[in-house]
Amino acid sequence: MGPDVFGRTQPQELLAAIAEDGEPLLELINQHVVSIQAFRPETLLQLLRLAAKFESNPDRYCRHNTPLTGKILINAFYEPSTRTRLSFDSAWHRLGGDSINITDRSTTGIAKGESLEDVAHMFNNYGDCVVLRDGHAEAIYAMSSTLRIPIINAGNGIDEHPTQAMADLYTIFKWRPSLALPTVPPEDRIRIGIIGVPSRMRTVRSLLRILAKFPQAFEEVVVIHAPDLDHPLFDPGQREELETMGLSIKTTTSLPQEIPDLDVIYINAIAWVGDSYERHGEVFRLTRDLPFKPEAIVLHPLARGAELSTCLDNTPHNWYFSQARGAVFLRMALLTCMVNRAERVIDVV
Ligand code: CP
Repeated sequence: MGPDVFGRTQPQELLAAIAEDGEPLLELINQHVVSIQAFRPETLLQLLRLAAKFESNPDRYCRHNTPLTGKILINAFYEPSTRTRLSFDSAWHRLGGDSINITDRSTTGIAKGESLEDVAHMFNNYGDCVVLRDGHAEAIYAMSSTLRIPIINAGNGIDEHPTQAMADLYTIFKWRPSLALPTVPPEDRIRIGIIGVPSRMRTVRSLLRILAKFPQAFEEVVVIHAPDLDHPLFDPGQREELETMGLSIKTTTSLPQEIPDLDVIYINAIAWVGDSYERHGEVFRLTRDLPFKPEAIVLHPLARGAELSTCLDNTPHNWYFSQARGAVFLRMALLTCMVNRAERVIDVV
C-alpha cells in the first residue's frame, strides 16, 4: 500500500481494475487540452491507469527512465496558483524535463501590447508544451489557434480546469476502484455531493463533465448551493448536457439533510473571474461533527477557506491532500502522452 497519513492512496488496486490498452493514449499526442468535453472515457481511464503506474512505482520512471529528458515545458501562470503550477512543474522535472516559468504577464511583451497570438508564435520556438492559467477565459483559445506545440488549460476564468477534474476522478477511482470497471456492481455506485456553483466555478464545471463520462459509476450527483445565489446555478444548456449523457442530478440547499447519504463530498467556495475572485456558499462549513458515512470522503480542489475546517484533516474523511498529491502523477501521465513519450513507459510493467 502507498503512503498515508495524508497520502491515503491505493494506486495498485486501480491499476488492477483497468485493463491496459495503450491505443487510446495515442490520440493525445500533440493535442491541446482545453476542455474535458474532448476526452473519450477510454482515454481518461488509460490516463488514470498510467498515473497509477507512475504512483505505484515512482522511482522506476523518475530515476532510471526519465521519458521527458530533453523536453522543455513553458509554465505560464497569470493568476495565483499553488498546486497547479507547482505540480505541473514537479511532474515535468520528475520525468527529467526542464521548464520555463512565467508568473506575471507584465514581464512579457503583453505589457507592451503584444498579442497572445504573437506570444504563441514565440512559444513555438522555446518549448515543447505550454501550461496556461489565465483568468480571461478566451486567452487559451487565442493562443491555441497559433500554437504548434500542445497547450494545457490550467484554469481559464470561470470556464474549465480539465486537469483538476482528471485529478478528482483519479482520487475517487483510487478510493473505490470498482467504479472504473466496465460494469460497476450496483452496490458500489456512489452518490456524490458537490457544494458549489456549476455556472461560476471552473473546477465544478469540469468535474461534472468528467463524471458525465462515467454515468454508470454515479447513482446521483447532488449539487448543494446557497439559497440566495447571485447567478443562475447552471448556464443555459449545462444541466441538460450532463443529463443527456446519463447523469442523474438533484439540487438542494440543505447540506445537513444530504450528508448522511453521501459517499463523496466535494466542496469549493471560490470562482475566479478575470483578475479577481468571488466567494460562494459562505453558509456551508464542513466539520468533523457532521453525520458523515464512516467511509465517506471529502474532496476540495484547494485553496481552502472557512468552508473546510482543519478539524477534518486528521480524520479518515480527508482525501483532499491525497487529491492534491495524486495530481502530480496524473499530470505526469498526461504530459508524457502529449509530448509523445508514452511508449517509453507504457510497456514497462
Ligand atoms: N486546485 C487548484 O487549481 O489550486 P491552485 O489554484 O493552487 O492551482
